[in-house]
Amino acid sequence: MSSKKIIKLQAIPALLMMLAAPASAADSSSVDRLPNMFGAVNSHGKDATYSTAGFIDLNNPFFKSLGENGRSCASCHAPTQGWTISPKGVQEVFEKTQGLDPLFRLVDGANSPIADVSTAEQRRNAYSMLLNKANIRVGIGIPADAEFELIEADDPYGFASEIELSLFRRPMPTTNLKFLSTVMWDGRETTLIPDSSDCIRGTSTCFSPVSFDLSTQANHATLGHAEALRELTDDERKAIVSFESGLFTAQIQHNDAGNLTAMGARGGPEALLKQDYYFGINDTLAGDYLTGAAFNPKIMSLYDSWSSFKPNKSSDSVTNARAAIVRGQALFNTKPIQISGVKGINDDFNIDVLPGTCTTCHNTPNSGNHSTPMPLDIGIADASRRTPDMPLYTLRNKTTGETIQTTDPGRALITGKWRDIGRFKGAILRSVASRPPYFHDGSAPDLPAVVEFYNTRFNIGLTDDEKADLVAFLAAL
Ligand code: HEC
Ligand code: HEC
Repeated sequence: MSSKKIIKLQAIPALLMMLAAPASAADSSSVDRLPNMFGAVNSHGKDATYSTAGFIDLNNPFFKSLGENGRSCASCHAPTQGWTISPKGVQEVFEKTQGLDPLFRLVDGANSPIADVSTAEQRRNAYSMLLNKANIRVGIGIPADAEFELIEADDPYGFASEIELSLFRRPMPTTNLKFLSTVMWDGRETTLIPDSSDCIRGTSTCFSPVSFDLSTQANHATLGHAEALRELTDDERKAIVSFESGLFTAQIQHNDAGNLTAMGARGGPEALLKQDYYFGINDTLAGDYLTGAAFNPKIMSLYDSWSSFKPNKSSDSVTNARAAIVRGQALFNTKPIQISGVKGINDDFNIDVLPGTCTTCHNTPNSGNHSTPMPLDIGIADASRRTPDMPLYTLRNKTTGETIQTTDPGRALITGKWRDIGRFKGAILRSVASRPPYFHDGSAPDLPAVVEFYNTRFNIGLTDDEKADLVAFLAAL
């Protein structure tokens, strides 16, 4: 790197870390932009990002400090970390700056906003959730008209109360946003609007277009995470939304299977860009909102072209690895799962056991999120999964007196509804290899842990080979 570039980069500390990462844009001719298809290495291979703008514009307000604390969107949505952050990336920044980089701010980077952060050692403790799980502390209070009240906040960091619960959550990636049906883990940036002809229609609800939600979200992120004293201008909001909405990221290179676009396979971001999506496409229960077609459980078809080769004992390792990905894709689409005890499915539709597959919930074609908001409680925030680093909240139903313990009430803090406790949206699954740890709270350290969670939670009965195939497939998304 020329000295000129280094001087420019020092002005933007978040980018320094980004460009210092392996296999990033070291060969880029200018530091004002990253070339299309630039990639970052992850433990399963390498991802690539494609922008419809033709390049990644580092002059976009997304990369600028827009508030008072030095943070930009890229502080928590870094291009080299799957457009979110990972513990490894956070730890590198901590070591480089002794925990003084703008990422480390009391407001929501620390376990408690009143933690003592005077010395490097104190900072290491105060920011442990960020360092260990790349979790940000989202502070949300109990709504005044909620059907429940907080009767105990067991917060290891001594801060949470009904006025502000501490919720430790993973930043969601700011890429592949074309496929979003709702914004944030709890859908809180998704706005309901009065019925009108130009609204996007859910089964019984009228939602605003996601582009509108992203614009208000960018403003809220600047006022909150970046502690800005002014709202973003319309031009800044438009620039950020148009930038992030043009990004597509997917795994392009797999450690064992090689190039994920070889022999007709449709891995990588360029094929993803062409993938059709609209709100309610392939809805599990209501069918396709636009075409009326029945739900199709075969939502993943990226690796169909690889299903024709039949590996045998003498096949080379690449062929074997590709065959494993094809088997994993089939398991994702078809392996039977008896879905029970999931709030948002079994209670809302009054079905004890719904025979399904991974795609009953991950129903958006070749993207893997829910094509409608559909917040679900699959048990991630259950008291039984609580680890000592997480707060535990005891909530009491104001009418029935019933109590629930949870590490994060999720959607219920937005709607105030008892039945919404523990419900979260299902994330877009593309480029999932780039962003461990998984689930809203980062409780699954890697992809095998995700598969293990499902196998136990739903008693699926996956063999070791099947688990490995599912992981190989997820790592090729
Ligand atoms: C301090 C870290 C931090 C900063 C800075 C930050 N974000 Fe986020 N972002 C998060 C977290 C954490 C979430 C998930 C929070 C939740 O769902 O409760 C998130 C979620 C999002 C989402 C939702 C994606 C989805 O799938 O629903 C978008 C879009 C987003 N951020 C964009 C931005 C933009 C634009 C900026 C800059 C204006 C920004 N963020 C700054 C941490 C951050
Ligand atoms: C009953 C609905 C349902 C089923 C079935 C289901 N999922 Fe999920 N999935 C979700 C929800 C909801 C989340 C988000 C949960 C959270 O973080 O609280 C999620 C999260 C994930 C994540 C983590 C994404 C991230 O960015 O952290 C992966 C990976 C995943 N699911 C894969 C699978 C696989 C593989 C299967 C089949 C073995 C499967 N899911 C079956 C609903 C489901």
